[in-house]
Amino acid sequence: AIVNVILSGGVGSRLWPLSRKSRPKQYLPIFNGNTLFQHTVKRNTGFCDQVMVVGNCENYELSRNDLSSSGIVKYTEIIEACPRNTAAAIAFAAFSLKSDDILFVTPSDHLIESGHEYQIAVNRAAQLAQEGYIVTFGLKPNRAETGYGYIESDGEEVKGFLEKPNLASAEAYVKSGDFYWNSGMFCFRAGIYLEELRRFEPEVYEASKFAIDKAKDGKLDFELSMRIPSISVDYAVMEKTKRIKVVPSKFAWSDMGSFESIYDHFVMEGYAVDSNGNMVIGSSLHTEFVGLSNTILIQTGDAVLVLNKENAQDVKKVFEQLEREK
Ligand code: GDD
Ligand code: MG
Repeated sequence: AIVNVILSGGVGSRLWPLSRKSRPKQYLPIFNGNTLFQHTVKRNTGFCDQVMVVGNCENYELSRNDLSSSGIVKYTEIIEACPRNTAAAIAFAAFSLKSDDILFVTPSDHLIESGHEYQIAVNRAAQLAQEGYIVTFGLKPNRAETGYGYIESDGEEVKGFLEKPNLASAEAYVKSGDFYWNSGMFCFRAGIYLEELRRFEPEVYEASKFAIDKAKDGKLDFELSMRIPSISVDYAVMEKTKRIKVVPSKFAWSDMGSFESIYDHFVMEGYAVDSNGNMVIGSSLHTEFVGLSNTILIQTGDAVLVLNKENAQDVKKVFEQLEREK
């Protein structure tokens, strides 16, 4: 079977106050009235026989709501007691499935165009996964973003995978033309992933296995979870495995990580942005900007944030400060 493993454990600190611990960004119904989680499910149902959500105990009810309003009645859930990062989250799914089941692992917080290019890419990935490869999706970079993984390749052959490089390296990679951004989606057989995880991160493998074996109704135990080293799949497996392939892809993709990326998409979708590039999100009040440009105002029930678009990455600092003050 092909299983869409949806990762939904992130907080989205750079989108405060829209994104909260209690309602992370993938559950905000601000993309044509649907959430990014719902878009993810809908985009992938055609390729997959099953849906498996790996989320956390604080928000699995939001996933349930989104699934039922999307008409998905059959799905499995793995509910984490605490986030242990993506190498473990994917391992929980892989241990819960058959060794030759194919996992199509997708984040739940990306905005992706689901047309022809997406179909070509996913179908090719499933084929390579069937052959025993660990498959990544490569997107042409258009800036030296340091928050992404970079894949050096010759066609589908991968020469290197480098997660979150420093700025100088990222600039060199983009300039060279031989590198792709890693989309954050993966496709592989459950057994192959687990073999590679065991080879490179035996502690993550063993502790994840122990924790998921002891899970009750898909719910993981807190103490057992805390024993799992926290490392992302990119560092744990993708940077090290020799069984890796990349599908060079052309679908439109945005990881919606910050207000800057949201802004770009709201502009594309024709939302109200004034002639100086100012934008209001979440408020229906009449708002005027005087002497300001590229300013974004975000209003929610209990908070207002005003920022310059160029400072979008700094919102994380506000979030962190508020967390410390709690
Ligand atoms: N269930 C669960 N548990 N999900 C998690 C956890 C966890 O502990 N940690 C993260 N996730 C989910 C996030 O919600 C997100 O959907 C996905 O896994 C990826 O995690 P991020 O934290 O968003 O990773 P990243 O953005 O820093 O980097 C990844 O994505 C980039 C593209 O957006 C990497 O794969 C990069 O290589 C890639 O370029
Ligand atoms: Mg991300």
